[in-house]
Amino acid sequence: MKNSMRFIVLQVLLLWLQFTACSSYSELNALLKLKADMKGPRGRGLEDWDDASSPLAYCSFSGVTCDEDLRVTALNLTFIPLFGFVSPDIGLLNKLVNLTLTQSNFTGNLRKETANLTSLKLLNISHNNFSGHFRGKITLVMMDLEILGAYDNNFTGPLPWEIANLKKLKQFDLGGNFFPVPASLAHLKNLEELYLVYYNAYEGDIPPELGYIASLQLLDMANCDLTGEIPASLSFLRNLYTLFLQMNHLTGRIPTEFSKSRTEWEAQGTRRHQKPPNRNASSGFVQRRKLKTMIAIANFFYGVIPQQLGECKSLSKIRLTKNYFTGSIPAGIFNLPLAIMIDLNGNYFSGELPLEISGDALGILKLSDNNFTGKITPAIGNLKSLHTLSLEMNKFSG
Ligand SMILES: *[C@@H]1O[C@H](CO)[C@@H](O)[C@H](O)[C@H]1NC(C)=O
Ligand SMILES: *[C@@H]1O[C@H](CO)[C@@H](O)[C@H](O)[C@H]1NC(C)=O
Ligand SMILES: *[C@@H]1O[C@H](CO)[C@@H](O)[C@H](O)[C@H]1NC(C)=O
Ligand SMILES: *[C@@H]1O[C@H](CO)[C@@H](O)[C@H](O)[C@H]1NC(C)=O
Ligand SMILES: *[C@@H]1O[C@H](CO)[C@@H](O)[C@H](O)[C@H]1NC(C)=O
Ligand SMILES: *[C@@H]1O[C@H](CO)[C@@H](O)[C@H](O)[C@H]1NC(C)=O
Ligand SMILES: *[C@@H]1O[C@H](CO)[C@@H](O)[C@H](O)[C@H]1NC(C)=O
Ligand SMILES: *[C@@H]1O[C@H](CO)[C@@H](O)[C@H](O)[C@H]1NC(C)=O
Ligand SMILES: *[C@@H]1O[C@H](CO)[C@@H](O)[C@H](O)[C@H]1NC(C)=O
Repeated sequence: MKNSMRFIVLQVLLLWLQFTACSSYSELNALLKLKADMKGPRGRGLEDWDDASSPLAYCSFSGVTCDEDLRVTALNLTFIPLFGFVSPDIGLLNKLVNLTLTQSNFTGNLRKETANLTSLKLLNISHNNFSGHFRGKITLVMMDLEILGAYDNNFTGPLPWEIANLKKLKQFDLGGNFFPVPASLAHLKNLEELYLVYYNAYEGDIPPELGYIASLQLLDMANCDLTGEIPASLSFLRNLYTLFLQMNHLTGRIPTEFSKSRTEWEAQGTRRHQKPPNRNASSGFVQRRKLKTMIAIANFFYGVIPQQLGECKSLSKIRLTKNYFTGSIPAGIFNLPLAIMIDLNGNYFSGELPLEISGDALGILKLSDNNFTGKITPAIGNLKSLHTLSLEMNKFSG
C-alpha cells in the first residue's frame, strides 16, 4: 500500500517535472526567438538572454517575470535598443499578464499570434514605430485587459470595433497615432482614463457619445485639431477629475448648465443613448464637486465664465489662457480653497477684481493681457503661497 502510494507520488512528480521541463523549454525557446527577431542591426540589447546558463535561468532574464510553474507572466522591455518585428512566438508565452514593449523601435504590426495571450491585463506598446491598422481581432480574447497603451506609434484608423468589447478596460491611451475616434468608445463602461491627445485623425467635433462613459475620470483631448463646441453631454461625466482640451480650435461657451439635478441625471444616465437633458442651471459640468483641473489653453472659447465655476471647491488648477472670454471673473474663483494655479492670461476679461481674495495654496495668479479695471486689490498681498503674479497689460488704475 505504502509502496504503491510512493509510486503514485513518484509518477506525479515525474509528470510534473516533464511538464515543467517541457513548458520551460518552450518558454526559453520563445524568448530566444523573440530576441533573435528583435535585435537591432548592431546586435545590441538583451545581452543576458542566453541559453548557455541553466535551463531555468530565463526566469531571471532582464525584463522577465515567471510564476511558480516557471511560466512567463510579465515581459517588460523598455528603453532597450530593439528594432524590427515582434516574433510570432510571442503567442507561446500565453500566461503573460503584463506585456510592456515601450520606448523601442518596433515596427510592423502586432502579430495575430498575440491573440493567444488570453490572460493579459496590461498591454503597453507606447513609443514605438508600430504601424498599419490596429488588429482588433487580437483583443477579442483579452477579456481581462485593463490597460491598453499604444501612445506615439504610427497606427492608422479606423479604430477597430472589437476594442469596445474590452469590458474591463480602465485605461486607454491611443494618442499620437492616426485614429479617428469612434462613438463606439462609449461602450467601454469601465473606462477611467482616455487619452486621445496629439494628432489623431479627427474630423471635426468631440464625439458627444464620450459623455456616456460614466466612469470616466480623465479625458485628454489636447492638440487634436478639434473643432466645434464642447458637447453638452460631457456634463454627464460625474466622475471627471481632469479634462484637457488645450491646443485645439474649439469654440463656443464653456458649458455649465445642462442637467436639472444630480438625481435626475442619474435616472437619465441609466437609460443608455438617451438624448441629453436640456440645458439648465442647477447643476452642471463645472459644478461637479470633483473637478480638479480645468485646462482650455489656446482655443477659441468665448463668453463669460459661469458663476458656478467659482463654487466648484475641488478645483485646483484653472488655465484658460489665450481664448476670447469676456465679462468679469466670478468672485468665487478668487476664493477657491484648493486652488494652486489660476491662469487667465490673454483673454478679454473685464471688471474689477474682488476685494476679497483668499486661497492659502494659491501659488500662481496670472491675469495679464486682459481688460481688468479698478484698483489692484491689496488682498493679493495676503496670499501666503503666491510666488508668481502677473497683472500687466490691463487697465488697472492707482
Ligand atoms: C503587472 O503590472 C502591475 C503594475 O502595472 C503590477 O502591479 C503587477 O504585479 C504586474 N503583474 C505581474 C504578473 O507582473
Ligand atoms: C517596466 O520597467 C520600467 C523600468 O525599466 C518601470 O519603470 C515600469 O514601471 C515597468 N512597467 C511595468 C508594467 O511593470
Ligand atoms: C530608435 O531609432 C532611432 C533612429 O534610428 C534612434 O535615434 C533611437 O535611439 C532608437 N531608439 C531606441 C530606444 O533604440
Ligand atoms: C498558444 O498557446 C498554446 C499553449 O502554450 C500553444 O500550444 C500554441 O502553439 C499557441 N499558439 C500560438 C499561435 O502561438
Ligand atoms: C519606422 O517604420 C517605417 C516603416 O513603417 C520605416 O521606414 C522606418 O525606418 C522605421 N523607423 C525606425 C526608426 O525604425
Ligand atoms: C511614422 O510615419 C512617418 C511617415 O508617415 C515617418 O516619418 C515616421 O518616422 C514614422 N515613425 C514614427 C515613430 O513616427
Ligand atoms: C506605457 O509606458 C510608458 C513608458 O514607456 C508610460 O509612460 C505610459 O504611462 C504607459 N502607458 C500606460 C497606459 O500604462
Ligand atoms: C431650469 O430650471 C428652472 C428652475 O431652476 C426652471 O424654471 C426652468 O424651467 C428649467 N429650464 C429647463 C429648460 O429645464
Ligand atoms: C475694455 O473695457 C472698456 C471699458 O472699461 C470697454 O470699453 C472696452 O470695449 C473693453 N475692451 C475689450 C477688448 O473688451
